[in-house]
Amino acid sequence: MKTLAVMSRKGGAGKTTVAVNLTLAARVMGVRAVLADADPMRSACEVLKGRDEAASVLFETSAAKLFTLTQACQRGGVELLIIDTPAAPEADVAEAVKVADLCLAVARPTYLDLAAAVMSVAVIQRLGREGLIALNQCPPARNGVEPPAVLKAFEALRFASLPVAPVALRSRVVYQTAFAQARSVMEMDGGGAAAREVQELFGHVWRQLNGEGRAPMRTANDDLGRTHARAGLAMVPTA
Ligand SMILES: Nc1ncnc2c1ncn2[C@@H]1O[C@H](COP(=O)(O)OP(=O)(O)O)[C@@H](O)[C@H]1O
Ligand SMILES: [Mg+2]
Repeated sequence: MKTLAVMSRKGGAGKTTVAVNLTLAARVMGVRAVLADADPMRSACEVLKGRDEAASVLFETSAAKLFTLTQACQRGGVELLIIDTPAAPEADVAEAVKVADLCLAVARPTYLDLAAAVMSVAVIQRLGREGLIALNQCPPARNGVEPPAVLKAFEALRFASLPVAPVALRSRVVYQTAFAQARSVMEMDGGGAAAREVQELFGHVWRQLNGEGRAPMRTANDDLGRTHARAGLAMVPTA
């Protein structure tokens, strides 16, 4: 079994959106995936409770119960456990990091979200785990031209040698309308752009989880990397 923790210190970055859509994308692709809602806000539960299979897809949990839940899922033949985490407290998020094979730090392409993602990756690495940053709520490209905020976010993260998923999720209304119907964007509009993004992000995450094409990571105490991170992030405008 592989375990993915979806995290961000910033509320509203899109943890629940990414966690739910990745879980449902995995299931569409035949992976036995379940979602653990470890956020006391219970947003993932709110979205998924209306589904027939909710009881077999969704677990309400807490940081303290994550280890036991992970073992139970493993025994139960789950192939992928995705954990939706709260923005805080850090100790609770750390429990999710500890049981995860990969931690996905979700960030909007803004200065503050990227700064939070950089800190998250440092925590992930301190705990000896693998991290990956996924950009979410990016403005869509227009006529094939990438908006400057997105270009700068990718540039800054790569310049800082931080591992970033090559596919960015865009800001699209379907992410919101899908949740109102307890569905994923793939279920709402399978041929749409959002569905393609989620599918690509899932593919990338799945390959990382299974050790294929893992991006090189810098170490947590890499001072040069930290300097680069600051220099790079200075290029990212707030949006
Ligand atoms: N890619 C996106 N496009 C449009 N709306 C989004 C997107 N990602 C998240 N949202 C919306 O932003 C809000 C916060 O997202 P949520 O997933 O709850 O964030 P978090 O779990 O990090 O607090 C929700 O209303 C959600 O529908
Ligand atoms: Mg949430």
